[in-house]
Amino acid sequence: MPNAFISGTGFYVPPRRVTNDDLRTVYGIDTTHEWIVKRTGIEERRFADEGVGTSDLGLLAAQAAIEKAGIAKTDLDMIIFATLSSEHCFPGSGVYLQEKLGLCDGPNAKFVPALDVRNQCSGFLYALGTATSMVKSGACKHVLVVGAEVHSAALDLTARGRGVASLFGDGAGAVVVSATEEDRGVRAWKLGADGRFADTLSQRIWDIRKRPFIPQNAEGVGQISPEFMWAYMDGKLVFKHAVERMVMVLMETCMMHGVTGEAIDMFFFHQANMRINQFIQQTLGIPEEKIVHNIHRYGNTTAATIPILLAEAEETGRLRRGMKIALCSFGSGFTWGAAIIDW
Ligand code: UT7
Repeated sequence: MPNAFISGTGFYVPPRRVTNDDLRTVYGIDTTHEWIVKRTGIEERRFADEGVGTSDLGLLAAQAAIEKAGIAKTDLDMIIFATLSSEHCFPGSGVYLQEKLGLCDGPNAKFVPALDVRNQCSGFLYALGTATSMVKSGACKHVLVVGAEVHSAALDLTARGRGVASLFGDGAGAVVVSATEEDRGVRAWKLGADGRFADTLSQRIWDIRKRPFIPQNAEGVGQISPEFMWAYMDGKLVFKHAVERMVMVLMETCMMHGVTGEAIDMFFFHQANMRINQFIQQTLGIPEEKIVHNIHRYGNTTAATIPILLAEAEETGRLRRGMKIALCSFGSGFTWGAAIIDW
């Protein structure tokens, strides 16, 4: 059975910086830089311009990852696209990315499968676990895994929405998961979910149980009240479960691999709130130099946080061949996951 390793990483964030002060001065949100930094660690985020979709961001991250992997895009056997902000209700962003990569072009087009993963902040880890299994089973040699989000179009950027709108940003990260006979790669991964909390962090724009699924006015035009239009989050409950689940799944994944936390050279945590990550760090006694953050620059980019962190750490030379690293995430669903990789 081959090992599955990450042969290439890439990321892309849109150039437009939106600072905490911009939320107040440009959008009129009743907030302060101090509140957001103190509660979350976020200083600024990126917003894509109108007309830019999730697969557009994913494309640029994917191209960088494919180049780093040293393969041709036609070598890909599968695309897995993790996002909660796909361009449309259906189809998912994976097929848009496949077409933009040019994988439908020419007489020899392979028409690689494109799978969409809808596991929000844990989406990248769910996608990575799936890609690893596809590679280890021998079904695929190279799987492109993308985590990308355009949140800025779906944030209530008004005084009403401050509790959620201050937290999220746009961006994309990608990795290529490849087969190797070398003794390296994804060593262990574990995923979990607790559907009792499905509504605790959710965006229920439509309700398929209703007829029609979106209420209409007399002219037949769909009407969505703000309550359903925008994401809902019980922040304190999410926070409490996040710290518990992330600590637990990290420890379980270490046990699966037969190592303790000291054996891990670097930790890549989902970037939802600096305080969540500091709590995990303190609970597990992880030294500061083993942790990478970028929440201050990008906010929470949901499925993209971990692949962006990986790509940046590799680009700056912090993440190097031979390191043992741990990834960990928690989010809407609730869903969570962790993975240990020998880089
Ligand atoms: O990636 C998916 C997973 N998501 C998470 O992990 C998020 C987890 N939760 C959190 O990170 C935190 O709960 C938040 C950062 C979202 C909120 O922090 P908090 O310490 O739990 O604050 P809170 O929601 O209890 O709000 C405290 C106060 C409220 O005012 P009152 O009711 O005490 O008067 C809020 O209205 O802070 C107010 N508030 C704000 N004030 C200024 C909420 N958002 C803002 C804001 N600016 N942006």
